[in-house]
Formats: sequence, structure tokens, C-alpha cells
Amino acid sequence: MVESRRNFLKATALTTAGMTVGGVFDGLASPADDKLVKASRLTDADGQYALPPLPYDDKALEPVIDEATVRLHHDVHHKAYVDGANKALKQLATARAEGDFNLVKHWSRELAFHGSGHVLHTLYWTSLTPTASGEPKGDLGKAIAQDFGDLAKLKNHLTKATVAVEASGWGVLAYNVLERRLMVLQVEKHQDLTVWGAVPLLVIDVWEHAYYLKYQSKRADYVAAIWDILDWTAAGLRFEAARTVAHAQPG
Ligand SMILES: [Fe+2]
Repeated sequence: MVESRRNFLKATALTTAGMTVGGVFDGLASPADDKLVKASRLTDADGQYALPPLPYDDKALEPVIDEATVRLHHDVHHKAYVDGANKALKQLATARAEGDFNLVKHWSRELAFHGSGHVLHTLYWTSLTPTASGEPKGDLGKAIAQDFGDLAKLKNHLTKATVAVEASGWGVLAYNVLERRLMVLQVEKHQDLTVWGAVPLLVIDVWEHAYYLKYQSKRADYVAAIWDILDWTAAGLRFEAARTVAHAQPG
């Protein structure tokens, strides 16, 4: 009873707004994963959104993703979402302070877009690794077999869904903590077409800024190549954290 209560409170805390993705990893990752933990932090000590460092050099993902793309993508595009999310939070705080909600629809939409952009980009950098991580193992590997049949079927589904995103968006492997099963999502922009309860484990960015310098219009080639650098170890840690939330019960 006491233990389940403790786990529930811990899980609840992990999902509280302002906590970091790194906060999830803090209790799970070994010291060897320190770069991953730092690269997964969404906020700074003051609770402001912050751009986390990459867990590898700008050129570490070559030849799949070139150095110039990584630098622009992280330093310019990702940072713009961080700044946009902070601006939206500030404007909403001002609205509360002044009791003036005339623009609440606008700033709520801005928070959803930029905040989701920040979360997904943080997950993107930590979904990739210059060191081959092999295939998903352990509990995540078992869950993939149970929910998709096998890795080949997941790969085919996730690849097709990602390539087929209309305009700008993402392919996402998620674990739905309300349904307790894995699912593939096809996200438009950063925030559209999700399912409540879905916790992203591994994401593939198919905005043109993610691949156009090297692959031009050949999105399918970029998505095919990215499978060589997916970090299944990090995805497994996120799966473990998400299941902690899913299985927590109040005592
Ligand atoms: Fe992006």
C-alpha cells in the first residue's frame, strides 16, 4: 500500500507541468547517461523553457544527417520554439495578472505550437545516436512484438506514416499510459493529431528544415536512412518511465 502510494506520487510528480523530461531519466539513467539526461531537460532551474545541449557533436550524425543541418536545426529552429513557448507563458501570466483574456485564444495556440515544438525537438535529438544502438531490447522489444507483431511491422508502419505526413510534422512511436499500449502517431505541425495519454518514446522530424539541405525533396530517403541512427536505448528508458506512470495506483 505504502509503496504503491509512493510510486503514484512519484509518477504524478513526473507528469506535473514544469518538471523536465530529464526528471524522468534522473531516477533511471546510469551516470554513463549523463549527456542524455542533460539533453533531455526542457526547463532550467527557474522553470523557464531552455534549449538543452545536444548529446553529441554537430557532425556526429553524419553521413545520415549533415553537420550544417544539425547546427541550424538545433541552434536556430529548436531555439525559436523555446523562445516562443516562453513568450506564450509570459503573455498568459500577464493576462492572469491583469484579468485581460482578450488574446487568450491566440496565446494558448502559441503555447501548444511552440511548447510542443520544444518537447518534440528535445525528444528528436535524444531519439538519435551516433553509436548504433541495435534493435529495441528488453521490455520495449517485448511490447513491440506484442502490439505490432514484430519490429519489421513497426518499422514499415512508422516509416509509411512518417513519410506520408501532410506538409510539416512528425512520425511518433508513443506509449499510451491510459490504454497501456504502444501506438504510431502521425503528427501535423507539432501538436495536431495526437491521442490523449500518448507519451512519445521516439520521434522523427519531417519538417523540411530537418532534411532539405542534404535530401532536398526526397523525404522518403531521409526517413529510410534515419533508422540507422535511432537510439533504442533512450526509447527504452522513456518506455520504462512511461510505464511507471501507467502502472502507478493510489494506495
Ligand atoms: Fe525540426
